[in-house]
Amino acid sequence: MRIPFLDLTRQHRELEVEAAAALKQVMAGGVFILGREVEAFEEEWAGFCGVRGAAGVNSGTDALTLALIASGVVRQGRRDEVITSPLTAAYTALAILNAGGVPVFADIDPQTYTLDPSAVEQAITSRTRAVVPVHLYGQMADMPALKAVAAQRGLTLIEDAAQAHGARLGEKCAGAHAHASAFSFYPTKNLGACGDGGAVASNDAALIERVKKLRQGGHPAAFGAGLEGRNSRLDEMQAALLRVKLPHLEKWNERRRSLARIYDETLGRCRALQLPSARQPGAHVYHLYVMQHPRRDRLRSHLAANGIETLIHYPFLLHQQPLFRRPEQRALPVAEDAAGKIISLPLYPHLTEEETREVADKILHFEP
Ligand SMILES: Cc1ncc(COP(=O)(O)O)c(C=O)c1O
Repeated sequence: MRIPFLDLTRQHRELEVEAAAALKQVMAGGVFILGREVEAFEEEWAGFCGVRGAAGVNSGTDALTLALIASGVVRQGRRDEVITSPLTAAYTALAILNAGGVPVFADIDPQTYTLDPSAVEQAITSRTRAVVPVHLYGQMADMPALKAVAAQRGLTLIEDAAQAHGARLGEKCAGAHAHASAFSFYPTKNLGACGDGGAVASNDAALIERVKKLRQGGHPAAFGAGLEGRNSRLDEMQAALLRVKLPHLEKWNERRRSLARIYDETLGRCRALQLPSARQPGAHVYHLYVMQHPRRDRLRSHLAANGIETLIHYPFLLHQQPLFRRPEQRALPVAEDAAGKIISLPLYPHLTEEETREVADKILHFEP
């Protein structure tokens, strides 16, 4: 059986009729940028996340960049430091650079792969302005502890929720725990567009208004130059598609959890593996199912020989990349240990149980 890492055509088959109707309606309306679909999606997305407002932008990278700029905590040329995780998409750190900040990396928790609050505390300097926790692989970061550190040290928290649509910690959704949050709607995400897209979500209505100016040249009337703006708009087609998909998100997340349970139950007996663990029920939406094996590369080859595609998220740690390397950077032993062992298995809502069991079975038959 050939099992690709992800097959989005299955999702699109489920929604084919609704999606085609939504696109047709946009075409017939003749408004393609910042029309009623974007406005309606922003309202629906803010409602889903449980925050006062959302602003649709061109990507998750821009969402994080603009959230940082709009929050006013980092300024170009001031060498303001922003602490984040070394184990994330490079876009997290690129967004900090784009906003004018200096990314500083703190170590992660070995069980959840999210920022370790005590490591964050140790990385704080007189230049630190903000912390960007990443809800990695769909797992919420330890927001209560990070909030306590941020409050004590006067720092702003901005969530990178690009991988955690619908994850919950306590009563609140990802995106509702910090001053502002950034989402990506890249096609592979738990809520994905059919192209690029992103959103900033926040309870701070003024911040959302600033993002709406920044995404469009810096001024609501398009050609002004009031703020250091850019062109970063979510378009009507993507917003219409996201509105078709949003009502399915909870169901899809539940399906991800039930497939993750199959992996957990079947692979739990293999002692060489470290399986993912949810911080609490609901805190993990399994954007990715990432486990560790000490012979990771050999396991990948074995699975590939059996037609099973796996990936590594991420093969490189950001603090070791030339663009982000700094002499002051400490070693990050937990992340460095995990980097050589992590492997992402196929897991998405339209994967079948049979396929999931086949992947698990082939892992159980691996002889290192
Ligand atoms: C954790 C994280 N942050 C930021 C991004 C950037 O999102 P985008 O690709 O939409 O710019 C991604 C997606 O790749 C991501 O996974």
